[in-house]
Amino acid sequence: MTVASELRQYPFQPFTGDLDEELLQMVETDSVTRVILPDGRPCWLVLGYEDCCTVLADPRFSRLISGETAAPGADAPRSLVMDGAPHACVRRVASRAFTARRMDSYRPRVQRLVDQLVDAMIAGGKPADLVSGLVAPLPMLVVCDVLGIPASDHHRFYGWLEGINSVVSYGLAQAVDSQQALRDYLGEQLVAKRAAPADDLLSIWLGEQQSSALTDEELVELAVGVLVGGIEINSTSTGLRALFQHPEQLDKLRAEPEKLAASATDEILRYTTVSAMFRVVVMAGDIELGGETIRAGDSVMALPWFGNRDGRIYPDPNVFDIERVPGSPHLTFGFGPHYCLGAALGKMQIELSLATLLRRLPNLAPAIPLDELPWRHDRINCGIASFPVTW
Ligand code: HEM
Repeated sequence: MTVASELRQYPFQPFTGDLDEELLQMVETDSVTRVILPDGRPCWLVLGYEDCCTVLADPRFSRLISGETAAPGADAPRSLVMDGAPHACVRRVASRAFTARRMDSYRPRVQRLVDQLVDAMIAGGKPADLVSGLVAPLPMLVVCDVLGIPASDHHRFYGWLEGINSVVSYGLAQAVDSQQALRDYLGEQLVAKRAAPADDLLSIWLGEQQSSALTDEELVELAVGVLVGGIEINSTSTGLRALFQHPEQLDKLRAEPEKLAASATDEILRYTTVSAMFRVVVMAGDIELGGETIRAGDSVMALPWFGNRDGRIYPDPNVFDIERVPGSPHLTFGFGPHYCLGAALGKMQIELSLATLLRRLPNLAPAIPLDELPWRHDRINCGIASFPVTW
């Protein structure tokens, strides 16, 4: 095996929105390869579709933070970031509020929020920044709406969420402080909802507290997980970038936005990527994967967007086709026990944003060359920092 000092630094080049060509070539031939992460840790990169599924679903790939040697004690609050039974228990409770029917019922509310943001963007005149006008605020408004957090409190936790999500630029201490402030706030919300339940996720989870046996502390952890999972959706920007790069696909979508927005959204999620990084997991046992032996304690990072380009799963995997009939589901929402709880809500936001923008602004176009779009590098979930558009 290659010794650590000979390993290459990952990412091989600064991330600017496209999948690394060299890694794309390796998806089917060298699915498992060893690199050095930006923090200096050696890590296995996993690229092929089936191998990514194994990493995301096999319990030997643990979510313990690297360096931890044992799972949290039995008295630690159970949460979605755990493995095995404690995770499954919280997940069961969480899922009761994320039913397909409930998510579908949010459609008119999400459409209203998209309309309000697009109205304000148009009123502000062109060129406008699509990120600060729509892509950044929408998921925050939606996730607060479904959780039942008063809109008047948004300004209070913008900073906390920024602190949590941006560990790289703010440091771990601030992330810990921000998490505590957010937990205290959500604890107060639970007390308020218990006194006056409403039609929202917090109230549903509280209503089932007796049968679910989740403590208040665990419900707060669950709400933090949903907030943090739901506040950033960057695929509307990466999707528009891909559409502007493929004018024939954009023309098709413009001609029939209502009909094609759903399949275009799936293809955008399969084809585009918002970051070079993904969650790093730690081996809880030895395993053979892609012809390599991965040992207990090793770090592993599956990159779902390379799995999404596996020619053994998708014909012409590197072709962007908004009418693609999906065979296997893409891996952008993960796979297995931690599959994204908010997938339907996330997809809905991208779909309604694209359809609304293209319907209301038929001449929508980038206001700067696409290769000059600035990318954020301060967090795992990077995305386009600002996207000036005109119409
Ligand atoms: C396009 C938008 C979204 C994408 C691409 C996305 C992606 C993902 C991925 C890849 C995972 C699995 C992570 C892992 O295996 O560690 C995940 C988990 C999760 N997502 Fe999303 N997500 C999106 C939107 C949302 C929304 C809108 C919500 C909430 C309203 C949400 C809540 C969650 C939660 C709570 C989990 C953890 C599930 C668990 O651990 O059991 N996500 N998401």
